[in-house]
Amino acid sequence: MRTHYCGKLNKENISQIVKICGWTNRRRDHGGVIFLDMRDKHGVVQVVINPNNKYFTLAETIRNEFVLRITGEVIARENDLINPKLATGGIEIIANQIEILNTSKPVPFQIDAVDTSEEVRLKYRFLDLRTNVMQQRMRLRSKVTHYMREFMDNHDFLDIETPFLTKATPEGARDYLVPSRTYPGEFFALPQSPQLFKQLLMMSGFERYYQIVKCFRDEDLRADRQPEFTQLDVETSFMNENEIMNMMEEMTHGLFKSVINVDLLKNINGDKFPTITYADAMNKYGVDCPDMRIPMQMVCMNELMKDVDFNVFSIPANAEESRVAALKVPGGATISRKNIDKYTKYISVYGAKGLAYIKLNKDGPASPILKFLGDDVTNKIIKMTNAQTGDIIFFGADKIKIVNESLGNLREQIAKDLDIYTNDWAPIWVVDFPMFNTNDDGSLSAIHHPFTAPSVDATTLKSTTNTALSRAYDLVINGNEVGGGSIRIHKVEMQQTVLKLLGISNKEAQDKFGFLLNALEYGCPPHGGMAFGLDRLVMIMTHCDSIRDVIAFPKTQTAACLLTNAPASVPNKILRELSIEINLPEKNS
Ligand code: AMO
Ligand code: AMP
Repeated sequence: MRTHYCGKLNKENISQIVKICGWTNRRRDHGGVIFLDMRDKHGVVQVVINPNNKYFTLAETIRNEFVLRITGEVIARENDLINPKLATGGIEIIANQIEILNTSKPVPFQIDAVDTSEEVRLKYRFLDLRTNVMQQRMRLRSKVTHYMREFMDNHDFLDIETPFLTKATPEGARDYLVPSRTYPGEFFALPQSPQLFKQLLMMSGFERYYQIVKCFRDEDLRADRQPEFTQLDVETSFMNENEIMNMMEEMTHGLFKSVINVDLLKNINGDKFPTITYADAMNKYGVDCPDMRIPMQMVCMNELMKDVDFNVFSIPANAEESRVAALKVPGGATISRKNIDKYTKYISVYGAKGLAYIKLNKDGPASPILKFLGDDVTNKIIKMTNAQTGDIIFFGADKIKIVNESLGNLREQIAKDLDIYTNDWAPIWVVDFPMFNTNDDGSLSAIHHPFTAPSVDATTLKSTTNTALSRAYDLVINGNEVGGGSIRIHKVEMQQTVLKLLGISNKEAQDKFGFLLNALEYGCPPHGGMAFGLDRLVMIMTHCDSIRDVIAFPKTQTAACLLTNAPASVPNKILRELSIEINLPEKNS
């Protein structure tokens, strides 16, 4: 139907007769001359219809988003009419034939309008996706998956599909369930990840597997979480964690270089991404996915505060599971009282009861708490945090979890507000995660998943459940956990030990993972792997704030699709076939 793309026409096409197809981005009437900005997937070109053109009357009926096929001659624009903002701004097309391929109702928002609400964008996603910015993001996403496939294929990984209708895979979220018609009362679970199947593929002798695959998790949604999202999922046999991390790092480094021309190693001393232990990350940055672009870290003040005459500090400094930490903000002495109150409120959601601070003004330290601390302690704080005139030092004093979450999040918020970043890109591996998390009721849950291998043998594991480390690793870029993986348990005895420690009885283990336990007994090779969050990677590569912006048809924060109105009720007949009866909770009046 066409000879050229709108967005690819340029001065080399001058004098050529071209046929273009696309959408009417805008129709403008200029004193008798009609201009059509015609858009296709490569961009926009201007078409001119003069009043003496036999298609002029037809052109007057054209509205935005009509689909047209236009034949015309490419001409150079007069010098003063050149539009430098447009790739095709040096030329235009004089139409000599116009065909309306389809009309369009008036659109609810102008394509490329910047202020359209997300609700409207998601309801009319097919229009939103026409915008240049969404077209570019989807194009970039496709380049990312293309690069990944090429890398994995070149490294002898096989792309193998795993089932969606399956049994629960424990990754820490609720399952999405699908009722079975043929087994009334029974359900499939959509996989939270292909974890168990990829391990089975190692037991099946494939040695290297990958898949770009949807995962389903019914969890509380945030900007970086969707109920269905995509992973680059990888598993290998006979490779240890260093070998796997090296290969995945090579992939990530190559991906950024090839797709967005970013060298992730540029600001790094050496030729490897740095590594931090989980314990260090929590102590210094308060989170397990530290944003290493931010030149601020927490300094432990427990020892110093043990004997001060200020209960807010001395009590947690002496208590178990508590800490006092300082966070110096370079140049932060300018932060106003009002903003300190704002930050105090901001961290109160994490349970912080206050936000003590010391400002280092030109005429010396200033703070409501100086009188409690005294000169000696104040000077030691300044030395320990290496604070300079013009800085501010914030303090957190409470249970470790509260201090870490408060100061960890405060650090990121202040970095954003004051734009304190030392570089654009900061990848880091987080390693040496604990095996288990102890719940409030004393029970254990897996920090990664229950198939992650511990760093110690079974006997040591049983006697050190609170401190034992796992062979897991996460890749963090700019404070986003973009991937995670581990060496897996490949011996059935160890798997049984871990399941038992997690409070899973033999019967439950057989019911849930009997197939895995069984397969472990038939010559299971040592194996491990990793999964990347594709949406998160594309989000940071495109500088978006939400993964919804890089997914063609995302769900809202409440896990609904505004375009299709899913989820939806189904007719009773279908429910009966599935032996399902709906029993809604009473509505609160
Ligand atoms: P994990 O649960 O850490 O590991 O997931 C791997 C990566 O997937 C991304 N991710 C998500 N992205 C968007 N929305 C979500 N709801 C969501 N949840 C996770 C993150 C995360 O780093 N089977 C293991 C991997 C392995 O051990 O090999 C797993 O799924 O970027
Ligand atoms: P107060 O004695 O409660 O008035 O607190 C004195 C200062 O310490 C105020 O600046 C409070 O914001 C701060 N503060 C109170 N509790 C904490 C805490 N748990 N951690 C850090 N600062 C606190």
